[in-house]
Amino acid sequence: MAEQPLSTRAVLTGTGAYLPAQVLTNEDMAKRVDTSDEWIVERTGIKQRHFAAPHETAAFMGAEAGRQALEKAGLPPEALGAVIVATSTPDQSFPATAVRIQAMLGAKKAFGFDLSAACSGFVYGLSVADAMLRAGQVKSVLVIGTEVFSRILNFEDRTTCVLFGDGAGAVLLEAREVEKSGPGLLSTHLYADGSLGDILYVDGGTGQKDKPGHLVMHGREVFRHAVNLLAGAVNDALAENNLTAADIDLLVPHQANKRIIDGVGKKLGLPAERVVVTVHKHANTSAASVPLALAEAIQDGRAAPGKLLLLEALGGGLTWGSALLRL
Ligand code: ACO
Repeated sequence: MAEQPLSTRAVLTGTGAYLPAQVLTNEDMAKRVDTSDEWIVERTGIKQRHFAAPHETAAFMGAEAGRQALEKAGLPPEALGAVIVATSTPDQSFPATAVRIQAMLGAKKAFGFDLSAACSGFVYGLSVADAMLRAGQVKSVLVIGTEVFSRILNFEDRTTCVLFGDGAGAVLLEAREVEKSGPGLLSTHLYADGSLGDILYVDGGTGQKDKPGHLVMHGREVFRHAVNLLAGAVNDALAENNLTAADIDLLVPHQANKRIIDGVGKKLGLPAERVVVTVHKHANTSAASVPLALAEAIQDGRAAPGKLLLLEALGGGLTWGSALLRL
């Protein structure tokens, strides 16, 4: 057989995950706001969420997940090229959470920056890392999604405070010369529509006087857009790679709502066992949700070497995107 030409790809070599020890069930939430386990499960599929303790900041959790990813890949921190952190809940406006993590890991030669794209942040981060690796700017990039949404929730608003949780997930991507059929990121597709900014946002921030900011969401509006926009991102990924949904071994979707996950799975015609679901355990961890789901699927063997994974996410902005990844 003729040898295939080699090209540079961003290959996933390690994953990591961190979830705070504190777990709040729907019954626990019902003690804080007027809600019930039945309502939350029926509308969202969520049964519990993790909430961070005071020391568990975005940087702390991101560093724990990042350290695991480096260890699994066998890459010493001093050899790391860059840290990209997707977060909407950074410890501070600056220094960037990525730079705090760089110091915690001892990744002395890495540069780092944060990226803000709400729940789509991790997919955006993969796309930026992919471009940097294929351009030869660096040989390795740690992409981390880390969030403490419990700190921006309005516990007077039962329509939003029951939906979110805290956590961090990380992947290490390394530049490798591979054949066309080999591993790595095959494509990423990013989208945004700022005209929909007011259906999901934080009503304040460190730059605003006396306004720390809480999450505000018009859930029905977000829901209305979510399935169609995500299906579009997924179809663009398949079309660009001359693939069909039947070629996908595993869909790794953003974990906002089981009904949205099922809606996208159904549009693709994928059976339930080919869709990774963690929303019942983690709730919506925003930028951490896709890497947490990915780390779990790799850990339990569903996402094995050679498998083709389709990642997708949608969040505040609106922003959304997809990534095709062969392990
Ligand atoms: N417990 C009990 N009842 C509640 C609760 C609650 N926690 N929250 C709302 N209700 C009530 C409402 O008051 C309303 O009552 P009413 O009919 O008497 O007025 C009723 O339940 C229905 O409320 P809706 O808001 O219309 O409920 P809906 O079916 O739309 O479900 C939900 C709400 C779960 C938020 C849904 O719209 C959703 O999942 N949206 C998408 C969210 C999403 O995907 N976000 C992704 C991005 S997140 C990011 O980027 C940060």
